[in-house]
Parts: sequence; C-alpha cells; structure tokens
Amino acid sequence: MSKVGLRLLGLVVAAAFIAALVLLARRPPSQMRFALVPKSVGHPYWEGVREGMEAAAARHNVQAIFHGPPEASVEEQLKIIEDFITQGYHGIGISPNDPNAVKEVIKQAMDRGIAVVTFDSDSPESDRLLYIGTDNRAAGRIGGREMISLLGATSKEEASEELLVQIIGGQPGAWNLNERMAGFREAVEGTNIKLCDDLYNEENPDTALQVAENAINAYPNLRGFFCSNAFGGPGAALAITGAIQRGKIEQGQIRVVAFDTTDDILNYIDEGIIDCTLAQQTHKMGAISIDKLVESATQFEEAAEFVRPPEGEDVIDTGVSVVWPDDVADYRTQPTETREASQGT
Ligand code: BGC
Repeated sequence: MSKVGLRLLGLVVAAAFIAALVLLARRPPSQMRFALVPKSVGHPYWEGVREGMEAAAARHNVQAIFHGPPEASVEEQLKIIEDFITQGYHGIGISPNDPNAVKEVIKQAMDRGIAVVTFDSDSPESDRLLYIGTDNRAAGRIGGREMISLLGATSKEEASEELLVQIIGGQPGAWNLNERMAGFREAVEGTNIKLCDDLYNEENPDTALQVAENAINAYPNLRGFFCSNAFGGPGAALAITGAIQRGKIEQGQIRVVAFDTTDDILNYIDEGIIDCTLAQQTHKMGAISIDKLVESATQFEEAAEFVRPPEGEDVIDTGVSVVWPDDVADYRTQPTETREASQGT
C-alpha cells in the first residue's frame, strides 16, 4: 500500500476509534433519569399527566418519576426540585406554584446541565427551555365567550341589567390561572357582565366550597361562576347544590363555566349544575415534557450545551376543547391520550 493509502487507513481507524469511544461514553437511555414536579400530587387532575409521562418514558426506555408536594406549596415544591438537582437527574419538568419563586432553582439546574421545561403552568421569565401546556389566555377567553352565551349577555349600552359573575382563582401567584382569569376578563369586557372581586380557593377543596358559599351569600343576584382550576368547579357546584336545597337560589340561576374533566366535574355536568368545562390535554403535557427533556438531555450529553428553541417558539400549545352536556358520554369513553370534546372549541 502507498504511503498516502496507509495514512488514509490510519485516519479512518482513528476516526472509528474516537466514534466508538463517544458511543461508549454516552449513557444508555435506561440510565437517564427524569422527573416531573406538579404543583401538588393526589388530585385526579394530574393522573393524565402522569400517564403521559409513563407512556413516553417507556417509549424512550428512560426512567421517570412523578413527584410533588402533597398539597400545593411553593416552599415544598422548591425543596423537591432541589433534591432532584442534587441527585443529578438529567431533566426536570415543573408546573410552578409560583413563577418567580422557581426562577433561581431553574437557573441552578440549567447551569449544571440539567434540562428544565415547564408544563401546565409556566415561569416565562426563567431559564427553562420550553413551556408545554394550555394556551391559558386563549382558554380564559373561550370561558368568557361561553359565559356570555349562557347568560345571554349583550353590550353594556344595550343592556337593562347587570349580570354578576364571580371569578375564582387558585393560588394567587399561579401564572396559568392568572392568565385564564385575564383572558376571561378580556372576553367579557364591554358586556353587561359585571365581575365581583376575585376569590381564590388556594388549591384546596374546603376553601373552594367556602369561597363559593361566601360569594352566593354576599351577592343574592349572582348569575355565574368562572372556575379557573380543577378545584373550583366542584367547590362552586357543591355550594350551589346546598343553596338550592336551602331554597336560597333556584336551579339554573347561577351558571358555571369550569375547568378540567375530573369525574366529579363530568358528573356535575350530567346533573345540570356545571354548564360546561374546558378540557385540557393533560396526557400530552406529560408525554411531550418527557419527549423534550430526553431530546435536550441527549443534546447536552453530546455537545455539553443546550440547544434552545428559536425566539418565539418556546411554547408548545397542547390545546383545549369545551365539554357540554351532550359531549359528556362520548368524552368519558375516549382514551386519555387523545380525549377531546367532539365540539372542540
Ligand atoms: C390547573 C392546575 C391546577 C389544577 C388543580 C388545573 O386546571 O391547570 O395548574 O393545579 O387545576 O387545581
């Protein structure tokens, strides 16, 4: 073989050797660990997210854990995230209870090469790579439009009466719920719907009932509730049922636009207490979070830096649909991966 030929062969062998080393150094997927940290665990709202996470983790052959505080707590959520950082997880998905409080830990994780995305609720000013979830502002506007049609609201000028509506939030700092509330306000602006001062259920079922009862007692002419989280609908429905039983209000006097599709909410729609609910795609949130975390963590293993999405493309909208009484039976039978109300939005 000529000298050039020998040199070429040497180069090829060296390149193959380096490629083999890189492949050996790369961690097998089964050793990569990911965590999703919801606002809290235990509420059935999160089941779809967990199922989506597990399905995606199995598909990628990676380890994944779903772990959050028993009840929504800013501090406990921070501790859990810090623990995952210390344990050297490869990627963490977070639904922040407070968008500002998580900024520091998100930076810490990303600086250490741990990929971070947010799901369900965002921390838009943090270092996270992506937000995966509902377009909450748009969903709030849809809620507002449904309330307008339920109450037959018209423009302020044409109207002869005011229609009092109570918005109920969750934790006052929650970014996703605040966006929904803002979207609802935008939609009803200029109509004869008059909004009461906001109330918050703090992601707690007892408080959810309590604040709804308070609103019914404080405003005898109350005509509607917009419940911006999964605790709100059942709280309002229980308070309304109690008030109907006590003869304080008539059935149908207070209309309810709820959020989410847990069994209790679908049952209250069947009973005619909740009018409609906005269905989020929780399974997609969990599955896409893992897809994106695995992708980013793998990129980091290869290049020791994260590849950020282009400007303006850091949000993955998982979509919402509206479930009305006619949709409930069909909605219940659909697989969680693709569950969507037939009427869509
Ligand atoms: C929200 C979550 C919230 C859950 C339970 C959902 O609508 O997207 O952020 O924690 O309700 O209240």
